[in-house]
Amino acid sequence: MSNLNRRSVLTLGVALGLVSAAGVGAAPALAAPAAAGTDPWWVWDDEVDQLVAGLITSGQVPAVNTAMRSWVNNSDAIPSGLPANLRTYLQGVNTLPSWADRTKLRLAADFNRRKDTYLFMLYGLGSGIMSTVIPREAKSVYWSAGGANMQDRAAKTFTFGYDLSELTAFEPNGQFVVTANKTRLVHAAVRHLLPQSPHWRAVANEPGLIPISNGDILVTFHSLGTFVHKKLKEWKVPMTAAEEAAFLHQWQVAMHLLGVRDEFIPQTWSAAYAQSASALSPILAPSTEGKELAEDLLGLTAQIDLGITRGFLNEFVRYVLSNEIGDWLRLPRDYAAAALIRTVWPAFIAFREGLNPIAPVSFYMFDQFIRAIAMLFLNKGASGTTTLITIPTGNRP
Ligand code: HEM
Repeated sequence: MSNLNRRSVLTLGVALGLVSAAGVGAAPALAAPAAAGTDPWWVWDDEVDQLVAGLITSGQVPAVNTAMRSWVNNSDAIPSGLPANLRTYLQGVNTLPSWADRTKLRLAADFNRRKDTYLFMLYGLGSGIMSTVIPREAKSVYWSAGGANMQDRAAKTFTFGYDLSELTAFEPNGQFVVTANKTRLVHAAVRHLLPQSPHWRAVANEPGLIPISNGDILVTFHSLGTFVHKKLKEWKVPMTAAEEAAFLHQWQVAMHLLGVRDEFIPQTWSAAYAQSASALSPILAPSTEGKELAEDLLGLTAQIDLGITRGFLNEFVRYVLSNEIGDWLRLPRDYAAAALIRTVWPAFIAFREGLNPIAPVSFYMFDQFIRAIAMLFLNKGASGTTTLITIPTGNRP
């Protein structure tokens, strides 16, 4: 699909989102009418982009990274060692948006804790592998500095999911607001650096040749939040309406903190589904970079003893995403594992969620598998946490 077509479908998706949001009387702060005339594929994060570009060209990034090490908890003061312009900027954005609802955020945190095993698995194996078939994301990640070391990069990305899923994520002693702001700075650096990479320029299909627009971030959100919500529904994991709304709300706040304009943020799950169908589904495709990243990611997971074979892991990815994506990534078939997953997984969820009193055969194998994936997240998240995220100063050579 051409750039123009894709942009126009997303704009349509946003318009649909606004229409349905207005229909259910969603929070007015998110429903600014300005969206109608603005295209998220041509919106980046101007203020911080300029600021970080200045820090890179003046060689201040290493000192900024050092000063940022002590900045971890949401309640921490912005480090005094940062350049004045960056401090002033961060003081303005290092806070929840006015429309954030702390009651919803607490419910989301509690929900995340109760469902953490499914969430870690879906984010890690589902969203993580899906990111490799979102060509613009795969190419950006591959050709940025972090692409050269996927293990380290995956650990940093896990930190984001871990901080978001923590019980205290948005509380003063939590870390998510800081993690999101550091990520926003990293993305700003990437927007300055990647256009200087001849490798990236040769493969990039980006409006104005600048990566990570608001549109791109929305697409990634759909590969994370919308995808996970859809799977939990499909798998009949019990969720109250309030929990579903809270889960969306946490992502709305996350997108705001990552620099997405409020008017582009979907306000309801139906708006999010419509936007995902028009902006994410049609662009999924294999790429050379994505295939290599997927192999790295699955190789990384395979290093941990998940109590399963690589064939099972490949089939689980196929089950969670699709056979089409599995074929794109050339994941070898293991038909016995595929049949086992197809029959046992729904029974496993029903038993685990108390919907069916009979434990399926292979219950322990599945249980060990999802717990091991969760531990992979928790260990990476707990060791080093937010200090891991640093602003890059170059690209992948
Ligand atoms: C860096 C999360 C959207 C490309 C990061 C980091 C996190 C993160 C936590 C810092 C870790 C690191 O340094 O590796 C997210 C989230 C997103 C999002 C939660 C949306 C919901 C995107 C999009 C793109 C992108 C849309 C590209 C199209 C990158 C790149 C880096 C990065 C290239 C730097 C990698 C490096 O060189 O270290 N992102 N991101 N991100 N992100 Fe994102």
